[in-house]
Amino acid sequence: MIESVSLTKFYPPPIKSLLDLKSLKDFIKTPREEIPALIDLNFKVKEGEVFGLLGPNGAGKTTFCKIANALVIPTRGNLYINGYDSIKEHNKIKGRIFTIFGGERDLFGLFQWRVSVEKNLKFIAELWGIPKAEAEKRINYALELLNLKDKKNEWYQKLSAGMRQKVYLALPLILQPEVLILDEPTVYLDVFTRREVWNTILDLSKEFGTTIILTTHNLNEAEALCDRVLIFNKKKIAEGKPKELIEKFQALKMERKLLVKLRGKVETSNFNGIAEKIKVYSQNGFTYLEIYTKQDRLKDILAILTNYEVVDLQNETITLEDVFAHMCSLDIYVNSKVGEKVKKGVANI
Ligand SMILES: Nc1ncnc2c1ncn2[C@@H]1O[C@H](COP(=O)(O)OP(=O)(O)OP(=O)(O)O)[C@@H](O)[C@H]1O
Ligand SMILES: [Mg+2]
Repeated sequence: MIESVSLTKFYPPPIKSLLDLKSLKDFIKTPREEIPALIDLNFKVKEGEVFGLLGPNGAGKTTFCKIANALVIPTRGNLYINGYDSIKEHNKIKGRIFTIFGGERDLFGLFQWRVSVEKNLKFIAELWGIPKAEAEKRINYALELLNLKDKKNEWYQKLSAGMRQKVYLALPLILQPEVLILDEPTVYLDVFTRREVWNTILDLSKEFGTTIILTTHNLNEAEALCDRVLIFNKKKIAEGKPKELIEKFQALKMERKLLVKLRGKVETSNFNGIAEKIKVYSQNGFTYLEIYTKQDRLKDILAILTNYEVVDLQNETITLEDVFAHMCSLDIYVNSKVGEKVKKGVANI
């Protein structure tokens, strides 16, 4: 289980370059603003859940992942991983948590460049105290799942960036940590590799019950993989199951757009007082209608359309990406300083 309690991080302000300074007085008197990364972030992730952290660039996603690994100390608040404080009790969670930072950044320097993929994986498994035979079984399973079997004898150095990223993802399958943190695990990956990574994440969750926190800019990915997501930009904006957030947003969105293709002529006056706006045009012998309507008039529109020979009807669908774009465009986050109360609250969704 993971619990973020009022987690807040302000990075120290950048030190002014000596060249920018007019005088010592200028240096002392100019206030230097701290850089907010996380503000009072509260959420809980249940055991075995796949939880998405979604936020625009600079929202604080990587900062969160670093706090989980005690690489960054929060300004205030706490992050508990399986009940242990990620900073003060870091020793107790070492070996239970594993983190992958996106791209080919081997932040922890685990891989040897001039050593084969298989030998690298065996060595890392040994470091984690996994018995030899068991490690071999797990390595074979991981290489199979990630479609990497033909690369096992290649030097790590020789792999492409995407393949290295994939090899990195073999590690949680081998080490089987209780908690896995993935910071943009599919960034730079092609569509096929991305699918293999998705399968791996689902496999980890289903087969091993791993608790997974995933940050991503790919909203389809979040929709496909995450049980619940948190949309945030320094501060929490919305939290819930992707499907629920979409449904709530759908209900909030007053206007619907219907695209209708039909045979014959249309009497637009039939829609007077029902549709908000209607556009009609003809193409290739068909009549096309773009109907903008309030949610509650939808059934009246459909009733009128039964009088026509409708060939196709499309309802504009709402995705998690629409919810995200809408939520993040709201002015929720206020540039606040340490200790200052944030003026605006959580979005009403
Ligand atoms: N070492 C640092 N020193 C000062 N400010 C930092 C540092 N690291 C991050 N920041 C700032 O903290 C904020 C959050 O950054 P962070 O990297 O956590 O965002 P992110 O959500 O991971 O963004 P992205 O989607 O671009 O990866 C940003 O305003 C960033 O400029
Ligand atoms: Mg980041």
